[in-house]
Amino acid sequence: MSKVDVLLGLQWGDEGKGKIVDVLTPDYDVIARFQGGPNAGHTLEFNGIKHVLHIIPSGIFHKQKLNIIGNGVLIEPAIFSDEVDALRQKGVEPTDNLYISKKAHLILPSHRLLDAANEQAKGNAKIGSTLKGIGPAYTDKIARTGIRVGDILEFDFREKYQLLKYQHIQLARTLNFDIDAFRINDMSLDEYEVRWMESLEILRKFKLINSEYFINRCLSEGKRVLAEGAQGSMLDIDFGSYPFVTSSSTITAGVCSGLGVAPSAIGRVMGITKAYCTRVGAGPFPTELFDATGRRLCELGHEYGATTGRSRRCGWIDIPALRYACMLNGVTDLIVTKPDVMNDFDEIKMCTDYIINDRETDEIPFEFNEVEIKPKLKVFSGWKCSLASAAKFDELPVQLTDYLHDIESRTGVRIMAVSISPDRKDVLFR
Ligand code: GDP
Ligand code: IMO
Ligand code: MG
Repeated sequence: MSKVDVLLGLQWGDEGKGKIVDVLTPDYDVIARFQGGPNAGHTLEFNGIKHVLHIIPSGIFHKQKLNIIGNGVLIEPAIFSDEVDALRQKGVEPTDNLYISKKAHLILPSHRLLDAANEQAKGNAKIGSTLKGIGPAYTDKIARTGIRVGDILEFDFREKYQLLKYQHIQLARTLNFDIDAFRINDMSLDEYEVRWMESLEILRKFKLINSEYFINRCLSEGKRVLAEGAQGSMLDIDFGSYPFVTSSSTITAGVCSGLGVAPSAIGRVMGITKAYCTRVGAGPFPTELFDATGRRLCELGHEYGATTGRSRRCGWIDIPALRYACMLNGVTDLIVTKPDVMNDFDEIKMCTDYIINDRETDEIPFEFNEVEIKPKLKVFSGWKCSLASAAKFDELPVQLTDYLHDIESRTGVRIMAVSISPDRKDVLFR
């Protein structure tokens, strides 16, 4: 019986999960997404090609490896269909090695309408949602009114769809939302619905399965399974900076419910962190930099959302948040990405503790959104050189390894790999 290894983000998303999953895929037989949906944007680069995946797992470019969209994921059929087209244009045929859980829930066009209506109703308190319908679709799942992938095979699918859509429209009206002015990709709700319905045909061509049985069978046959997280631990519905979070369980616990595997079947938990920190959308970010250094991180790190194109807020690494994420996830191995972005920096800073009302703490307070948090910063010397010549972890400049060792000692987790460019080939394993 083998175990499910997990790879997930420890910050506010965009840590480089897609790249690292692609790099680790040769070591596994099955790659499975367990939560989130098209709010995710996972970037892969190899042979000069850049590719962004939203719903499809990042193992898809390895033909002989199986990819699974688990029951915990949300599928928006039109976005899924675009993703399939984009893969086909690159010569990848995903129907061969992508299976989809019948229990995964669908995002309807009217979920996207509601996402926009909710955000508008929140005014200044808006979350900065990706507007892909994530919150409303998970709301329907929990309210037991959602529609699942398996339902598209049933005779009463249209009836279920119309009923749910009707409820959404009523709700959007009570929020005083201008439904006629609403657009998705320049299409009205009705126009987009036509495209959405057509996309169901693409979905029907895939193998729709009871993925919990499939994955557990794989484990009993000794196959190696890697669960790919989306978003990050600080966006988790329970432990993130609520309400500035996403609507799913982004932590290791989500793997059990999102794939149907027992806690005892979880193996290694690989947690990814950038060497600094970013956040897209609203909500607390104690180490955020509003100065030229923040702008440099954004420019040099190309910190623009892979899904929405929004510029990401940037700041120093946040150890209290990282320690929290390691605790919640049971992280066994750390992976650090993007130190190369700071190659020219004279100094690199690390937030070791929070100062709240003149008191030092390394705990995330319940009042995370309300209190003023000052980061206590430790300063490191920059390495001031390119990392491109390093072929092994031990060949990294000493200033960088000092910084990395400090992260290890403060989190209590060993760093297993460091990524030094967007490309597949640039990961230094230890
Ligand atoms: P994900 O959502 O966690 O998969 O991450 P994203 O793809 O949204 O954002 C990560 C961005 O950083 C992408 O543009 C990657 O190509 C890029 N990236 C990943 N690892 C590295 C790295 O080590 N160095 C640099 N410079 N860029 C990286
Ligand atoms: P990946 O997988 C970064 C953020 C949004 C918003 C909040 C809620 O690429 O790391 P939602 O659309 O989920 O209701 O938005 O969460 N968010 C992400 N930020 N990376 C992501 O995914 C994100 N998915 C959602 O910006 O603040
Ligand atoms: Mg991303």
